[in-house]
Amino acid sequence: MSSEELKVAELVKRSSGRVIAFTGAGISAEVGIPTFRGRDGLWERYDPEELATPRAFRRNPELVWRWYAWRMSLIREARPSPAHELLARWESEGMLMGVVTQNIDGLHREAGSINLVELHGSIWRMRCTSCDLKLDLGFGRIPEEIPPVCSCGSIMRPDVVWFHEPLPSDAWSRAEELMGKAEVVLVIGTSGLVMPAASLPLMALGRGAILVEINPEETNLSRFARFRIRKGASEALQGVNRYLGGIS
Ligand code: OAD
Repeated sequence: MSSEELKVAELVKRSSGRVIAFTGAGISAEVGIPTFRGRDGLWERYDPEELATPRAFRRNPELVWRWYAWRMSLIREARPSPAHELLARWESEGMLMGVVTQNIDGLHREAGSINLVELHGSIWRMRCTSCDLKLDLGFGRIPEEIPPVCSCGSIMRPDVVWFHEPLPSDAWSRAEELMGKAEVVLVIGTSGLVMPAASLPLMALGRGAILVEINPEETNLSRFARFRIRKGASEALQGVNRYLGGIS
């Protein structure tokens, strides 16, 4: 355990619940879901312009759906990591206000997080390209027919945010509201490169919140963090959690 973890545990305790976790692909990397950037990252092997834009979908919906079905098949093999589980537990114990995630894998929900904002949507939900009907598939359920067709006859798309698309306005306003209340933001497993999501911790910082970065690597957001734990998400949060027990 490190003294950084002790300081973060004290900070979390002192903030009496005004703590938010802002998470990215790194929190799920430990359970076998590839991140986007860096070695073995998805965007090293696949071109987002071919697979994750509205134009790519219009050009070849079947290709895009096959890629999402492949990602679904990887995700459904995974279970929440100790990091996902600890965040859910801290929320249930009143130490954490909620989680704002860029991840679409559904693992925070599987772990039991309740006050959860999925900024980039969910891979386990689809929506109609014409009538906007949304359908929850449920964790682990991959559509049998690809591309799936809505009852109105049009094709469905994954209910996720693609490049060149705005974030859903309800998710954005909930995230802003949470960031506005936060005294501490735990920035976990994100490169902080994708806007507008990455501006959220900075928004909280501007309102006086303290940022804690949990990431084995230096990132775009590192210089704004008061504390940096250079470990994987689960090891770091387990370290903080051990200290939490000893602080009254
Ligand atoms: P990235 O792939 O950009 O960054 C992942 C981060 O996780 C890196 O900073 C790694 O150092 C860190 N990391 C790796 N293993 C870790 C571990 N065990 N514990 C903690 N951190 C670890 O992923 P995001 O920042 O989430 O958007 O990417 C943001 C957005 O870019 C995604 O939501 C996606 C992508 O394009 C859309 O698809 C709209």
